[in-house]
Amino acid sequence: MKNYIGVMDSGKGGLSVLEELKRVLPNENYIYYGDRCNNPYGSKSDEELLSITQNIVENFIKRGCKVIVVACNTATVRCIEKLKKLYPNIIFVGTVPAVKVAYDAGCRNTLVLATPATIKSERTNELVTEFKRSNQNIYLESCSNLASSIEEDDEKEIDNILKDIYNKYKSKDIDSIVLGCTHYSLIKSTIKEVFVNVLLFDGNLGVAKEVRRKLIKYDLLNNGEGSVKILKNL
Ligand code: DGL
Repeated sequence: MKNYIGVMDSGKGGLSVLEELKRVLPNENYIYYGDRCNNPYGSKSDEELLSITQNIVENFIKRGCKVIVVACNTATVRCIEKLKKLYPNIIFVGTVPAVKVAYDAGCRNTLVLATPATIKSERTNELVTEFKRSNQNIYLESCSNLASSIEEDDEKEIDNILKDIYNKYKSKDIDSIVLGCTHYSLIKSTIKEVFVNVLLFDGNLGVAKEVRRKLIKYDLLNNGEGSVKILKNL
């Protein structure tokens, strides 16, 4: 039986994580599920989100997944710890806003963009305060409709949202942006057009490296051809 890696998100955002996983671990077999029926996850209650993600996890387990990547910041900050307790034999890897990477790069004025649920989560607030140096400023921006506009390929709305954010922060000398939602990594070039000369950080490489560490630790590395199966339904 193949050792699959299941990758899940509320839609297409997790495909940005899958791309990085394929680059770092090309010999693995991946199953991807973008849960468009329940998008956006940010507007769900904790109970609803746990039941939605549990349903996906159980389906992945039936399909032979040993590792499950929660390629969604919102689901990670809100329910990955509960999923780990419910399925102790499964290896879970999640994604959180790459705030530490921006701090470590010595950025001075960092803007974190994420869904309202991620911005107000305890986990994000821990990340923001834990590693900050006194000469660094961090600004947290809740983006209510950005992930859904990306999901719908609504370029006009994406542009309006980004321009509004730009105007709000133009006096802050922003030098870096943390993309705290996996959907945003899909529009890096559009963000660069609005925020010129700004460094963009996401957690995708960190996630891929963490998966590789876990596969090595539990002796699960695959050395076959590698494959990707995109599920339309569960
Ligand atoms: N890609 C998800 C994230 O990283 C989108 C969240 C949502 O569906 O609200 O947060």
